[in-house]
Amino acid sequence: MKGLILSGGKGVRLRPLTDTRAKQLVPIANKPILFYCIEQLVAAGITEIGIIIGETGDEVKAVVGDGSKWGVDISWIPQEAPLGLAHCVLVAREFLGNDDFVMFLGDNMLELELASLVHQFINDRNNDSLSCRVLLKEVENPSFFGVGVINDEGRVIKLIEKPEEPPSNLALVGVYFFTQAIHEAVLAISPSKRGELEITDAIQWLIDNGCVVDHHILDGWWIDTGKKDPLLECNRLVLSAVVGDIAPSAVIDDGTDISGVVQIGEGSVISNSIIEGPVVIGKGVMVSDSQIRPFTSIGDGVQVFGSILKDSVLLEGCVIDKAGLINASLVGSNSKVSGSTGSADSNTLLLGDNSIVDLS
Ligand code: TTP
Repeated sequence: MKGLILSGGKGVRLRPLTDTRAKQLVPIANKPILFYCIEQLVAAGITEIGIIIGETGDEVKAVVGDGSKWGVDISWIPQEAPLGLAHCVLVAREFLGNDDFVMFLGDNMLELELASLVHQFINDRNNDSLSCRVLLKEVENPSFFGVGVINDEGRVIKLIEKPEEPPSNLALVGVYFFTQAIHEAVLAISPSKRGELEITDAIQWLIDNGCVVDHHILDGWWIDTGKKDPLLECNRLVLSAVVGDIAPSAVIDDGTDISGVVQIGEGSVISNSIIEGPVVIGKGVMVSDSQIRPFTSIGDGVQVFGSILKDSVLLEGCVIDKAGLINASLVGSNSKVSGSTGSADSNTLLLGDNSIVDLS
């Protein structure tokens, strides 16, 4: 079984942050989203992983490296343009060979025990001539997703992209199990109205051509992190499960009050502040005369002076200086936010890298 992670795409829904960086590299609790995908595949025993890359490929490669930090082989698969999820399977043909594979959208985060699903798929596909297994999740707003229709035997009989009148509340989650049957399907389909080779069309082709497609219902949470608010929701969920860890080299003065689960990285200096977990603070961070309220992730080298942060993700190297309350915000790296006149002001920001915001 191989792993295929999709880390190309445009990321227009996270602009301006994605004007300068790959959305799959935005950190959740100070770790790039893409790493969570890789780690789930690694934990499932998958050692050959192909990663589809687009315009941001060089940056993704630099951050991920050759896979040795996880003890796996990573193959880089360039996609000339984001021509659809099924197009990714097409361009990965050589890497995939005739092996079974699990395809993972590189911007999706899931609470998932992938190992048991991988073993189940390998077992069931040998017994049942199974071609594909999709992951589905009950959602309240199925019209926003690809939706699956299931028969009494649990087989998927239809997939519909963003239906106006959804036939079920089962949305397609960004993890798919395939056998080599999918290769014929992706060659057979045509681009959709939006000009993409849709994976839903390829799977529908399998169904229409007599292949067995079944499903697994995901019980845990699932978040497509492609927009700010879901990304912050994901940050909250991941922070809810972090373990406290304060580096011995961190310096915390007596005027600082720390409560809840808190991580503070090497060389960080915290003075005269309130830190209320769950909070993750990176390395070399400076916080003074400030409050870091729950569900905040602060990247390496950030400096926070006289401000309150809450429910936010700050990328590395930001400076937040007398900015009042920064709430529900995503702040790109090396950005500078300052000048709020009163500490009661609440500011919600989505900033690209290197932004400068004067709130006065
Ligand atoms: P999407 O979120 O569907 O598309 P996108 O990344 O272009 O984002 P936006 O809609 O905001 O412009 O993609 C899901 C994942 O698959 C994401 O990690 C990007 C990746 N992808 C590719 O690698 N190649 C593609 O052709 C497409 C469409 C997506």
